[in-house]
Amino acid sequence: MAERHETKQWSVPNSEPLMNHPSIKEAAEWLKQGKTVAFPTETVYGLGADATNEAAVQKIFEAKGRPADNPLIVHVGKVDTVKEYVKEIPSHAWILMNEFWPGPLTIILPSKGVFADNVTAGLETVGIRIPDHPHAIALLTLAAIPVAAPSANRSGKPSPTSSEHVMDDLKGRIHGVLDGGQTGVGVESTVIDCTLDRPMILRPGGVTKEEIEATIGPVDVAPSLLKDDDAPRSPGMKYKHYAPDVPIWIVEGGAENMNKVANELKQQGKHVGFMVSQERAQQLGVEKDLILGERSQLNEMTSRLYDQLRKIDQLNYDIVLAESFSKIGIGVALMNRLERAASKIIE
Ligand code: TXA
Ligand code: MG
Repeated sequence: MAERHETKQWSVPNSEPLMNHPSIKEAAEWLKQGKTVAFPTETVYGLGADATNEAAVQKIFEAKGRPADNPLIVHVGKVDTVKEYVKEIPSHAWILMNEFWPGPLTIILPSKGVFADNVTAGLETVGIRIPDHPHAIALLTLAAIPVAAPSANRSGKPSPTSSEHVMDDLKGRIHGVLDGGQTGVGVESTVIDCTLDRPMILRPGGVTKEEIEATIGPVDVAPSLLKDDDAPRSPGMKYKHYAPDVPIWIVEGGAENMNKVANELKQQGKHVGFMVSQERAQQLGVEKDLILGERSQLNEMTSRLYDQLRKIDQLNYDIVLAESFSKIGIGVALMNRLERAASKIIE
């Protein structure tokens, strides 16, 4: 059972100077004292604790209800600290760090064993990133410690893209949350294993495969991302995620196919919702549904996905039909999360 706490909320607008802000100073102090503090990043909100303090990290697992075999990402504020934590930084990893940090790319490197054992879940490797968010950078700089932080949701729920989502899931289970507004990217960082001769993408995310390959050449993609039946290399990818209680079916093909499926369901007396682009909503004649945005604006649609997934259970649907989007660029991450939230794909 997680300890019960009052959860303090610090609201710090972007317009205020962050580096000396008393609220961020206090949040940083709390991290140093071994408390759990949620904070915004450019991807999703993270739930942070001192990565060198095993008891503090344990509180993250308890608050989230996270399986102990799923390792955490370590967040740092400065690139020069990384060599204190890892045995080796291969040249392709250096290039990626220079190109994409701060940013939504987690790089797996051989761990030196500086972090608490529960951060790495017994693995010899560790995932590290510098987030591209002013609040996160100020917090990490002021704390001046490596901060282990998974997404700040209850395990199995969509990652939080606002402090309200964090409070919905973790109020009373964590010490504090630093509110920096809505996150931008809206899905988690790309995870890339750089301990291999040829780096391998373990989780698609905010940095696309195309962007990575433009800097270091061809990379591999974890077999588990291509087929369902292989053992996942990134422990987190084996868990069903992001799934609302209401079933989601992804319907491939055009509006016609979606209409056909919807009509069959309606004939069975089901109340059917649609999670679709604006264009598809128009074609279907549904205006107030779970609209993600214009089809050409994949980034914007992606940034709304988790908020819409969280809304589904508050609406009165028996089933939600979701549009299938093109797996290009950020669309790979969007469809990866959507497929993991869905219970069925209809071709
Ligand atoms: O954008 C993000 O990455 C967010 C923000 C808060 O930074 N964090 C996040 O953390 O998504 P989490 O714990 O929800 O997901 C971490 C993923 C999991 O799939 C985990 O299995 C994988 O990274 N991972 C962490 N360390 C690893 C390692 N050493 N080897 C392989 N996979 C690892
Ligand atoms: Mg997560």
